[in-house]
Amino acid sequence: MKAIKVDLAERSYPVLVGENCLGEVERYLPSSAKRVAIVTQEQIGIDLQIEKNHKVFTIGTGETSKSIDSVIALCRSWVDWGLTRSDIVIGLGGGMVTDIAAFAASIYHRGLEVINVPTTLLGMVDAAIGGKTGANLPEGKNLIGTFWQPKAVICDVDTLQTLPEREWKCGYGEVAKYHFLGADDMRGFSLIDTVMECVKVKTRIVAEDEREAGTRAILNYGHTLAHAIELENGFALAHGEAVAVGIRYAAQVAFHMGRIGEERVAYHEEILNHYGLQMKLGERIDPQRALLLFSRDKKSKPGLFTFVLDGDLGVEPVSFYDGNILVKALEVVQ
Ligand SMILES: NC(=O)c1ccc[n+]([C@@H]2O[C@H](COP(=O)([O-])OP(=O)(O)OC[C@H]3O[C@@H](n4cnc5c(N)ncnc54)[C@H](O)[C@@H]3O)[C@@H](O)[C@H]2O)c1
Repeated sequence: MKAIKVDLAERSYPVLVGENCLGEVERYLPSSAKRVAIVTQEQIGIDLQIEKNHKVFTIGTGETSKSIDSVIALCRSWVDWGLTRSDIVIGLGGGMVTDIAAFAASIYHRGLEVINVPTTLLGMVDAAIGGKTGANLPEGKNLIGTFWQPKAVICDVDTLQTLPEREWKCGYGEVAKYHFLGADDMRGFSLIDTVMECVKVKTRIVAEDEREAGTRAILNYGHTLAHAIELENGFALAHGEAVAVGIRYAAQVAFHMGRIGEERVAYHEEILNHYGLQMKLGERIDPQRALLLFSRDKKSKPGLFTFVLDGDLGVEPVSFYDGNILVKALEVVQ
């Protein structure tokens, strides 16, 4: 088992990555805790062996269940069960579970400790680390949430054995992203080493910018196109699949702006190919509609488009006026 620390002064915590390591959870249960609330989804079907008094609370699946109603329902059932301030919550699942469980934990009795046990690749390399919690509103994804760092994150790659093919792809969309954020070339790495390398990059970025005041925005590499098409609802792409196309798109935008050359564009495509990721949207998006959606992205400034783009200094947020570049780059991924 390998471990890495998320260095956040008094909020620091370890991320463990290994096989058959779910038992490690016990080590991080505070002695004060009399009860452990385990939040998960029915189909995940993973049993945590915990000696302390514990109870499983399930939430629904799909982004529509990632709602404030789910958060309130959890809090209410915790009251029913008698969960107190000195107890603890465990989020056992993908990003949706860890986001909702930690959100509920962060507001229940004004804040209960939480341990994240991600069971998807995306959760291990991204969602479970960094303390962002969230729920959707009908108006958009993750519009409400808190910053609430977990006490520990335990990534047992054995839990991924039951992960459907499509969820692997979603995870690899994020893994591909880290190739451009300073990770070593992970092609040829074992699964554990791949997760570790991504965790290393994510923990470094989170430690530099816990509350996303600056650097942390680079974790959105490839996400601007992804968020735009997710808003369209018509696209049959899962988030990680959309991120993969978004990474290719961002490379094209950077190329048309003269920030990177053809070789670097080819490298982007090589990485996406390596992980078997899709390179095109699969259906057309009207360019003017795309521009409108890009302009509404939360990174955008009034009158400007903002994309996270590759360049000589690495990946960084870049703001610009010229929508023509964005339209031109779109041709490659349509
Ligand atoms: N907080 C953050 O920093 C952050 C970062 C990235 C993404 N996210 C959030 O994460 C969510 C996406 O997470 P995700 O990709 O893990 O999806 P998910 O949590 O929705 O899980 C995808 C599906 O896989 C199932 N599943 C989970 N583990 C399984 C297992 N071991 N075996 C079989 N099935 C399993 C789930 O039940 C679900 O049906 C989004 O809501 C996104 O907003 C948060």
